[in-house]
Amino acid sequence: MEFVEWKKILIPYENAVEELKVKFKSIRSELHALGEYSPIEFVTGRVKKTSSILEKAKKLDIAVEEIQETMEDIAGIRIMCQFVEDIYTVVDYIRERNGKDMEIFYEKDYINNYKDSGYRSYHVVIKYPIQTALGQKTILAEIQIRTLAMNFWAVIEHSLKYKYKHQIPEHINDRLKKAADAAHKLDQEMSEIRHEIRQAQKVFEVRSNTVSDILKNIQLLYLVDKSKEASEFQERFNDLWDKGDTVALKKLAKEISRCSEKYEVYD
Ligand code: GTP
Ligand code: MG
Repeated sequence: MEFVEWKKILIPYENAVEELKVKFKSIRSELHALGEYSPIEFVTGRVKKTSSILEKAKKLDIAVEEIQETMEDIAGIRIMCQFVEDIYTVVDYIRERNGKDMEIFYEKDYINNYKDSGYRSYHVVIKYPIQTALGQKTILAEIQIRTLAMNFWAVIEHSLKYKYKHQIPEHINDRLKKAADAAHKLDQEMSEIRHEIRQAQKVFEVRSNTVSDILKNIQLLYLVDKSKEASEFQERFNDLWDKGDTVALKKLAKEISRCSEKYEVYD
């Protein structure tokens, strides 16, 4: 095997993973900033280790020169969702971007067609253009979209596979399959009560945003020497906080914000 400069080859992949992580995390923060529900819970990403790349190439009998065109998961992104329904919303986001900043190469639905192992996830392999110091390079990246339950199972199964060097004893395999069914059942149960859960999360979110607003504005009033107003608001806040009155808290938030606007307290 001729000398291959892996460190150099992997740079665009590292950059792609970083960019894609930022892009999907931004969807989450954008929706949160708008007070909307995010189908994305969290995002991770990694570049495959050189040792794993070579191992996989050997296993699949891929020549070193062909690795970059054939191996689809050198750059890998994982998007975790709360509910199965969210996965398809995320897939739609990606389809929306097809031909814009990324191009869908192919999709694999391991949710409706789960693997024999019990593995469930939705995979989208994309072609992703990356700007390098030497010009543009298009690489392949694999996006895995799954629920928290699917992820829990896959991470544990993966580490067991690793531990047993891919030869998991039969009895453990049986357990893993049962665990996969249990994770699936959990996702189904959660889907059933999804609307109630989301409602509760929303109420919590509104309340916590209101409280943050109030405290931020009180602090700003102190900063512009309106300590009398600030401490009055603080007392009223303490009272409502003790009572747990969300509606009154929202009214107070509006009042404080009007007051801080009056003193031209902008953050
Ligand atoms: P490899 O499974 O990596 O050899 O690639 P492939 O070309 O067969 O593609 P596939 O779509 O089957 O798998 C791609 C990726 O999905 C893998 O690298 C894993 O991250 C994940 N994956 C697929 N099957 C399983 C599984 O049974 N268990 C776990 N934990 N992960 C899986
Ligand atoms: Mg496979």
